[in-house]
Amino acid sequence: MPQSNRAVQIAAFGGPEQMQLVDLPVGEPGPGEIRIRHEAIGLNFIDVYQRTGLYPNALPLSLGMEGAGVVEAVGEGVSHLAVGDRAAYATNPPGSYCERRVMPAKCVVRLPEGIAFDTGAAMMLKGLTAQYLLRQTLPQGGLHAGDHVLFHAAAGGVGLIACQWARALGLQLIGTAGSDEKCALAREHGAAHVINYRREDFVARVKEITGGAGVKVVYDSVGADTFLKSLECLKPFGLLACFGNSSGKAPPLDTGLLATKGSLYVTRPTLFTHIATRERTQAMADELFDVVLSGAVQIRIAQRYPLAEVARAHRELEARQTTGSSVLLLR
Ligand SMILES: NC(=O)c1ccc[n+]([C@@H]2O[C@H](COP(=O)([O-])OP(=O)(O)OC[C@H]3O[C@@H](n4cnc5c(N)ncnc54)[C@H](OP(=O)(O)O)[C@@H]3O)[C@@H](O)[C@H]2O)c1
Repeated sequence: MPQSNRAVQIAAFGGPEQMQLVDLPVGEPGPGEIRIRHEAIGLNFIDVYQRTGLYPNALPLSLGMEGAGVVEAVGEGVSHLAVGDRAAYATNPPGSYCERRVMPAKCVVRLPEGIAFDTGAAMMLKGLTAQYLLRQTLPQGGLHAGDHVLFHAAAGGVGLIACQWARALGLQLIGTAGSDEKCALAREHGAAHVINYRREDFVARVKEITGGAGVKVVYDSVGADTFLKSLECLKPFGLLACFGNSSGKAPPLDTGLLATKGSLYVTRPTLFTHIATRERTQAMADELFDVVLSGAVQIRIAQRYPLAEVARAHRELEARQTTGSSVLLLR
């Protein structure tokens, strides 16, 4: 039976004005797929990279990588989900900015009863990212209570989850953010120290906070503006996890720098390697659900937009006007 399915698509890469609300047919799930009816959709900075073409995809392109809703139909071979289940996901291929979609089941997990749909949509991509960063992207010897880490854009979607999760792990997270209000928010959410990197020299402040030693890990999603200075903040053998490009792509790296600055490590991780299998996705999601259900990590939804106002949502995200998570709502 044909069903209404409003969806956001782009026909060409470009600015927020490229996003059009269209009516897309939605069919039955094939083997390994489900059909989900969204209750809420998550907004992520990766959606901007896909809209502009920084991360290339075929056109026309349906946007969005995160959502939560109810399973409407299940394809052959899918045993971990049933019709009527509450579910949530972060996954490729894009296409979550819609009412309904058919999608691969392997990255979709059941959403615990104690977690609301909007919270589920706001936390999967960002929370699974915080999980793989703080729990799997580690320096030699791992991270231990009391260790310093530097986390850029600490008041953002991934940032506020990471602040709280780091506190729960006993880490001393030094958070950077682009205003004093954002710094205060990061501190309220568990950052041990905060730096307004629009007006303070974050390298000098990190040295001061750590008594000259530097940090074991820098988690850097800002990219172009911070990458080289982030290397300056590391201890010998330290790790730079460069996981985003909010200010533009990081410059090419002269690997000789890693020697002169103390046998440093650099990685460019992505969530999608970490959630490549259903088993890994479930294990990471279970850990995320535990920290959220225990109250150690609270998901702050600071912006809610009707789906039809998705262009405004993108403009505000790109203009650094948002904090925490943003969701798109269907009603
Ligand atoms: N590799 C992965 O697996 C993965 C997964 C998820 C997210 N990410 C990356 O993690 C980052 C955070 O994602 P998010 O969705 O939670 O976004 P977000 O942090 O809520 O928003 C991006 C933030 O980046 C900061 N920023 C610094 N310079 C900027 C600039 N020139 N333009 C725009 N923003 C700038 C802003 O905070 P301030 O004003 O405080 O500087 C802004 O609020 C993004 O770079 C995203 O691509 C990577």
